[in-house]
Amino acid sequence: MMYKGMFSLLALASTAVYAAPDMQSIAEKNGCFSCHSMQTKIVGPAFIDVAAKYKGDAEAPARLAQKVRDGGKGVWGRIPMPAHPNLKEDEAKQLVAWVLSSGS
Ligand code: HEC
Repeated sequence: MMYKGMFSLLALASTAVYAAPDMQSIAEKNGCFSCHSMQTKIVGPAFIDVAAKYKGDAEAPARLAQKVRDGGKGVWGRIPMPAHPNLKEDEAKQLVAWVLSSGS
C-alpha cells in the first residue's frame, strides 16, 4: 500500500518538472523572452506582474491569447506588443495560461 502511494506521488512530481521547461522552450522559440522575463520588466511587463494583474479574471486567458497573436498596446505603457501571427491558437493559449500561472 505504502509503495503505491509513493509511486503516484513520484509520477505527479515528474509531470510537473517536465511541463515547465516545455512552455519555457515554446516561449523561447517564439521570441517572447526578447521582450519579457519572468521577474523583471524589459520591453514588456514581467510575467509575474501580468499574472498578478489578471488574478481572478476569468476572461483574461482568452483575451490575452488573442492579444498575443494580434498584438496590442495601451495596458502597460506606450510600447506596443507586435503581432505573432505564426503562433498557433493552441500555443498562444498554453503560453498565456503558463504566464498567468507564473509566480503562483
Ligand atoms: C517586441 C517585444 C515583445 C515580444 C516579442 C513579446 N511581447 Fe508581450 N508585450 C510586449 C509589450 C510592450 C507589452 C505591453 C502591451 C500593452 O501595454 O498593452 C506586452 C504585453 C504582454 C502581455 C500582457 C497583455 C495585456 O494586455 O496585459 C502578455 C500576456 C504577453 N505580452 C505575452 C507575450 C508572449 C507569450 C510572447 C511570445 C509569443 C510575447 N508577449 C512577445 C512586448 C513584447
